[in-house]
Amino acid sequence: MTDPAETTETLIDDAVEYTVMTRDVVKIYRMGDSEVRALDGVSVTIRTGEYISIMGPSGSGKTTLFNAIGGLMKPTSGNVFIDEIDVAQLDANELAWLRCRKIGYIFQSYNIVKVMTALENVTLPMLFGGVPPDEAQDRAVDILKRVGLGERLLHTPKELSGGQQQRVAIARAFANQPAIILADEPTANLDLHTGEEIIDLMKEMNQELGVTVICSTHDHKMLDISDRIVWMRDGQLQKIARRDEVDIEINTMTEK
Ligand SMILES: Nc1ncnc2c1ncn2[C@@H]1O[C@H](COP(=O)(O)OP(=O)(O)OP(=O)(O)O)[C@@H](O)[C@H]1O
Ligand SMILES: [Mg+2]
Repeated sequence: MTDPAETTETLIDDAVEYTVMTRDVVKIYRMGDSEVRALDGVSVTIRTGEYISIMGPSGSGKTTLFNAIGGLMKPTSGNVFIDEIDVAQLDANELAWLRCRKIGYIFQSYNIVKVMTALENVTLPMLFGGVPPDEAQDRAVDILKRVGLGERLLHTPKELSGGQQQRVAIARAFANQPAIILADEPTANLDLHTGEEIIDLMKEMNQELGVTVICSTHDHKMLDISDRIVWMRDGQLQKIARRDEVDIEINTMTEK
């Protein structure tokens, strides 16, 4: 199994193009007298166009790592670089721009706007991103067709199934042609079959558009389509491996 530090350094030595690099990221939550080290020195380098799955038991720090990479939370110490930009150095406007234009977010609970139609949900981030309304709407229709919702453009979330709502969330995440998709357990609330469809869709978009995908998951099907898999434990990277290095483990692995 590859040592995380070794993998990271090898990538840098080879000057491989990367999209995300974290360096010794620590996140400490203080709760009265006690403290939780949700992230405890995470250094990982993710190449442009890679599909990365993050695995690990509940509480191991996956969502916290996500929030750190996505600029949704400020680490206690350490650095996060997106396309060589140190996220900590950005002011509020620059950070908002990065979140809007560079990163697409997909959450376990979909998080699409309940009072808006599928079309409005996907159009909105493009309007925020400065795309003219007519063009934004045309592009939203195209993306929604792409995720199989061409017949559901005017449905609101309550008129859509869970899998369809997650498709809207995927369409929204891809709307501004981001460099990175961050997906936090996107299939956790879906049945097996629908979950597989969502996984296939994310992989297709990753391959067609060359978007870097970082996806936390408990779903072993996700591992089959990943380029590399990162295992977390107690806020640390336990190991990183390429897909072809973990064949046997995937088939025998049980959730801890
Ligand atoms: N806002 C917070 N305040 C205090 N502690 C927190 C906070 N957010 C997370 N934690 C703690 O940090 C640790 C990591 O949490 P995190 O949500 O990153 O885990 P996770 O790997 O995503 O788990 P799951 O698989 O259940 O989603 C946990 O021990 C959690 O209790
Ligand atoms: Mg989580």
